[in-house]
Amino acid sequence: MRSLIDILDLTTEEINDLVAVASDIIQNPAAYAHKCDGKILATLFFEPSTRTRLSFESAMLSLGGQTLGFSEASSSSASKGESVADTVRTVSCYSDIIAMRHPKEGAPLVAAMHATVPVINAGDGGHNHPTQTLTDLLTIHHEKGRFNGLTVGLCGDLKFGRTVHSLINALSRYEDIRIVLISPEELKLPSYVKKDVLQKNNIPYLQTTDLEAVMPELDILYMTRVQRERFFNEEDYLRLKDSYILTPEKLANAKADLSILHPLPRVNEISVAVDQDPRAAYFRQARYGRFIRMALIMKLLGIQ
Ligand code: NCD
Repeated sequence: MRSLIDILDLTTEEINDLVAVASDIIQNPAAYAHKCDGKILATLFFEPSTRTRLSFESAMLSLGGQTLGFSEASSSSASKGESVADTVRTVSCYSDIIAMRHPKEGAPLVAAMHATVPVINAGDGGHNHPTQTLTDLLTIHHEKGRFNGLTVGLCGDLKFGRTVHSLINALSRYEDIRIVLISPEELKLPSYVKKDVLQKNNIPYLQTTDLEAVMPELDILYMTRVQRERFFNEEDYLRLKDSYILTPEKLANAKADLSILHPLPRVNEISVAVDQDPRAAYFRQARYGRFIRMALIMKLLGIQ
């Protein structure tokens, strides 16, 4: 039985396969409409979500399966003091696969140790978000046609942004990748990610606070929200929240084939005026989330 806790739980070949299956699903959805007949996905969301939870549910429904779950901790027995281990032991009796989001780093790993069905990490605190990364990779595949030879700018809250940590891990396996880290001093990429991923794999990277200065070099610009819920005090959040606001003017020197990604939700960091720009890929990206999750659910359930 396989779970997905960290993006590197999957080999490069497996990721390429998931991308290929997801692309085939987009072309031939009817061929997949009964792949998961009779199967149940449980979504255990101890933190807010729109895209991740609903795309998981949409994915399972599109495969012919069914879903159950909760979307806030307060409506589960966690509010009575039940442990994650006991919750997933129980939910394993009611479902065939579990997607879990939790504010504590490592909670989905603990869940996987106690569940008797596959567990998918749908985001754990400021740590990882592997299925967002699969979504990002499917988007990059469709927008750029390759994973190699890309200069990828990651901008915003690189400290608490779990999507950034998982994406850097995934990109570190490809050839000729350059990473440009754009953030305020206080929200820089954690040193463990820099050391264990970028330096260990000899990935060239640059750290800067100046988005416009690096804009002309980028093939991909991955914008992120300042993660309010991870801050220790509101003043720091208020001071940092508008550090970067992408506007059409700031894109003046960008490449004509730049792809602008954002895991969403957007707060202020991309002006709505950018939405009309054909390089704005973030709503296409949200759509891809459904298909890659269909491919992932099939894979973890052992369905061809
Ligand atoms: C992200 C998350 O939850 O980490 N959202 C998502 O899953 N698409 C990004 C965020 O909340 O800023």
